[in-house]
Amino acid sequence: MLNVSEIRKDFPILNRKVNGKPLIYFDNAATSQTPQQVIDVIVDYYSNYNANIHRGVHSLSQEATDAYEQARLKIQKHFNAKHPYEVIFTSGTTHGINLVANGFSSLLKKGDEIIVSALEHHSNIVPWQMLCERTGASLKVIPMNESGELILSKYDTLLNENTKLVFVNHISNALGTINPIETIIEKAHKVGAAILVDGAQSCPHIKPDVQKLDVDFYVCSAHKLCGPTGVGMLYGKEDWLKKLPPYQGGGEMIAEVTFEKTTYADLPHKFEAGTPNISGGIAFGAAIDYMNSIGFDNIAAYEHELLDYATQQLQQIEGLKIYGTAKEKTSVISFNVGTIHPYDVGTILDKMGIAVRTGHHCAQPIMDFYKIPGTIRASFMFYNTKEEIDTFVAALKKAIMMLS
Ligand SMILES: Cc1ncc(COP(=O)(O)O)c(C=O)c1O
Repeated sequence: MLNVSEIRKDFPILNRKVNGKPLIYFDNAATSQTPQQVIDVIVDYYSNYNANIHRGVHSLSQEATDAYEQARLKIQKHFNAKHPYEVIFTSGTTHGINLVANGFSSLLKKGDEIIVSALEHHSNIVPWQMLCERTGASLKVIPMNESGELILSKYDTLLNENTKLVFVNHISNALGTINPIETIIEKAHKVGAAILVDGAQSCPHIKPDVQKLDVDFYVCSAHKLCGPTGVGMLYGKEDWLKKLPPYQGGGEMIAEVTFEKTTYADLPHKFEAGTPNISGGIAFGAAIDYMNSIGFDNIAAYEHELLDYATQQLQQIEGLKIYGTAKEKTSVISFNVGTIHPYDVGTILDKMGIAVRTGHHCAQPIMDFYKIPGTIRASFMFYNTKEEIDTFVAALKKAIMMLS
């Protein structure tokens, strides 16, 4: 059981008012809020040991390096990677996906096939399209059904000996569907394809075990799990990371440089060119500590309660349609009300202090599937409450009245 009123004290932003009303923050799938414990770590870094890492013999540099590498170990442990050097710090999920897509440029050829799913965020579509343009490989799509679930029987028909890569998210940001990634991974491996799982939306709700999943690549962003923006991680199996060429050239990723030839550093540095987001990496570790102190089982159980409660309340509103009714779902509700434009609802809710996301959620193919321009999306985290949902539902009813 979570003590939500105690947890809420960790998040200073939850005390603020927006447009004169107490903030109700239901845009967690876009970015989560940051607890004081994580903010303190960032302030401590800049107040006490701000220095570049891996390069200086002086004390500050060593302290910063130690803290940064400690964070890598925390991330390794959290995701259960076999080795710390299988954890590459990135600027976020998008960076991690592009790093892998770029790496496969020299490994794919015309006739090869890549599979994505109909439920992807643009950042797990566009880099693969660009990869196809560079290599002549072709892109296939696992379709979805009306409930927002992937049709796995169709996935079977797409897989063959030409399939080299499969990319799928663990949880859809637009609909909240939890995809059966265990099965998807197993099937990809049966035809010898590598698989990348986009964990941007799952990392705040589920603690994945990358070894047990036997996934080849797993990517996520710290800001989705109570960490700062501008930092994330790519997990890759050692063999794959050794096979892929570096993504960016620069300082830190080299072993030796002459004008004739450069040799590259070992993992993980081969993929970490330039000065990284040092405070961000350290704070990412602190965010993982924070989430684990609450416990992922507790988080999932409570958020499910919020999802069920909000779904019941919203279903009672006449003309309201929820998009994404998968059996396995996380705490995201995407909906529209009649022909009212989502943007108008979002604007009125903001006037009442309520933050929701409106639009296509960087998932235009999903909106095209439902033949809608966008949705209103409310997404909940463990620091939200049923009382907030009540206020949100009442405000929504008012907005509907104003717009009808
Ligand atoms: C499923 C999914 N993939 C990728 C991303 C991109 O994450 P970032 O912008 O942190 O790189 C997001 C962000 O919302 C997402 O929800």
